[in-house]
Amino acid sequence: MKVKRLAHGLGAEVTGLDLRTDIPASTVADIRAAWLQHQVLVFPGQDIPPESHIAFSAKFGEVDPVSFAPRFRHPDHPEILVISNKPQKGKQSETRNNGRQWHSDTSFRLAPGTGSLLHCLELPDFGGDTMFTNMYMAYDTLSDVMKKMLEDLWAVHDSTNTKDARNRPPEVLKELRKINPLVAQPVVRVHPETGRKALYVSEGQTTHIVGMTDEESTAILQFLFAHSVEPEFIYRHRWSQHDIVMWDNRCAMHLAVRYDMTKPRHMHRTTLRGEPSGYLYQAQ
Ligand code: SIN
Repeated sequence: MKVKRLAHGLGAEVTGLDLRTDIPASTVADIRAAWLQHQVLVFPGQDIPPESHIAFSAKFGEVDPVSFAPRFRHPDHPEILVISNKPQKGKQSETRNNGRQWHSDTSFRLAPGTGSLLHCLELPDFGGDTMFTNMYMAYDTLSDVMKKMLEDLWAVHDSTNTKDARNRPPEVLKELRKINPLVAQPVVRVHPETGRKALYVSEGQTTHIVGMTDEESTAILQFLFAHSVEPEFIYRHRWSQHDIVMWDNRCAMHLAVRYDMTKPRHMHRTTLRGEPSGYLYQAQ
């Protein structure tokens, strides 16, 4: 297995592996170490069936059966979230605009996803990229005064906050809100494996800082959202068919860049269930 760093911000390419095979424990440990170090790993040329995608994902944690959005499950593989602009079950795909704002997968859950593994099955000739940003760097580059102010703050995360979610039919929104009640997460999260601090707020899913007025909260969150995506923190992935990209949601955010939607883009994602974090938020 070879690991080659891809950007200043984060990301590395991993070659020399065939993810269809049962990867030995020592190699799994090497991949985990590389993932913790680089936050985003790209495995190119992995033309693998959903069963192998799920089995490989399970080496790194419990695969969530898309409990946060069961309506987007793969019909034959409940562990797979289908992110596609191709018709699904004879209807326009509901996930065609998934992830258009910066977010950390399932930060609105009490056990937010540790990692996600996205497999590209079909892609346009150009466009359809995914961008990642390093939330350790976002935290580390704040002033000590700002770090101190953020230290004990909590912020509310809402699965239906994104522009895409807000455009969904009311009955779908109601279903998603019922499955995912509002959760408060620390604004600065300590990564449970590395012990490092990372910013944990996102434009897509964070609505306000607990206990602040709307004006205070908006001013601070707008600053943090903009600061989190400074160009030097970012890696932009230009997909090739059968890339698998695995990222760490505890210290990286991502965004699916808009593209020409008349061209098919079809992806399968697994999400690893995370460690407990946050509390159920009751609006005052
Ligand atoms: C996601 O938010 O997980 C989707 C990313 C993508 O489709 O590029």
